[in-house]
Amino acid sequence: MIDPFGRAITYLRVSVTDRCDLRCVYCMAEDMTFLPKAEILSLEELDRLCGAFIRLGTTKIRITGGEPLVRRDVMTLFRSLGARIGAGLDELTVTTNGTQLAKHASALHAAGVRRVNVSLDTLDPATFASITRWGKIEKTLDGIFAAKAAGLAVRLNAVALKGVNEDEFDAMLAWCGEHGFDLCLIETMPLGEIGGDRMDQYLPLSLVRSRLRRRWTLQDTDYRTGGPARYFTVAETGRRIGFITPMTHNFCESCNRVRLTCTGTLYMCLGQDDQADFRRPLRAGASDDELDAAILAAIARKPKGHDFIIDRRHRQPALARHMSVTGG
Ligand code: GTP
Ligand code: 5AD
Ligand code: SF4
Repeated sequence: MIDPFGRAITYLRVSVTDRCDLRCVYCMAEDMTFLPKAEILSLEELDRLCGAFIRLGTTKIRITGGEPLVRRDVMTLFRSLGARIGAGLDELTVTTNGTQLAKHASALHAAGVRRVNVSLDTLDPATFASITRWGKIEKTLDGIFAAKAAGLAVRLNAVALKGVNEDEFDAMLAWCGEHGFDLCLIETMPLGEIGGDRMDQYLPLSLVRSRLRRRWTLQDTDYRTGGPARYFTVAETGRRIGFITPMTHNFCESCNRVRLTCTGTLYMCLGQDDQADFRRPLRAGASDDELDAAILAAIARKPKGHDFIIDRRHRQPALARHMSVTGG
């Protein structure tokens, strides 16, 4: 699948639910209306669509949410997708808040998952509770250590928030080094009305990186995960730090991904509204050939990139859609 800008689309992100057991302040409003069940694709329908993408050249699938591991029976999807590893699929992975990971880590590994990204913005229980609105850090930490014990490589994702967790990155990097995790810092993106003031929390990672360099030696590395992060090896720990900088250093020119939501909508770009509906054809009995043709037609419409700006004057999100619709 090659898009109009010559980019090979090999990475499919699949959101299996819009629900989450937390309400991170940069992701959702406290009071969210979730989708009715009839609109949500069954796991079999999601599996069939993933199969079509794999047929067409998708080599990496990341399961996201909301929080993917709160979806009932989600492990059956991991197992059926895992069976395709080596038969078109190279990597099956997941981005999770970790609260259910202690329960599922071994099953994920058994299904063929080798690497997980876990959202953890802070090591401080009180800060964690305020960012997630009611989360208990112990649950996520238990999940992280269960993942490690199950043999999964762990990358922690931390959204950089001015005045909230910006003083913690040295400590988090040290902690990750101690436990053998990679850390990835992310600039907050203006998606969805979140009931708070995102602009006040926006922190450019260029600043964070130069602060980190006072204490740590960040060495260039060729390491890539096929996602948007740019990595460095931290000489003092041997682990990596990644930076995802949609605001200060856009990475759209090398974009390789599209996003499927739990309702069967394909978003061709995280930062644009362009979309294609697959639920209707799926439920109207479309053949494999028809699905393939619809996917190729959607890829042919993939936009060049996003144009997020932090709008300090109007304080509006760039897009009405919440981050939790596509799982990032
Ligand atoms: P790896 O496979 O480990 O590289 O994962 P990833 O970084 O692709 O996935 P993850 O779910 O951990 O996403 C981390 C952050 O990157 C989230 O905030 C996503 O919203 C963001 N992200 C991923 N892809 C894109 C993209 O195409 N555009 C933008 N703007 N952000 C993205
Ligand atoms: N901006 C940047 N990253 C976000 N995430 C959720 N909302 C936002 C946002 N507005 C992150 C989560 C998770 C990943 C999938 O996306 O922390 O790690
Ligand atoms: Fe849930 Fe992840 Fe959004 Fe936090 S960022 S509310 S954990 S989906």
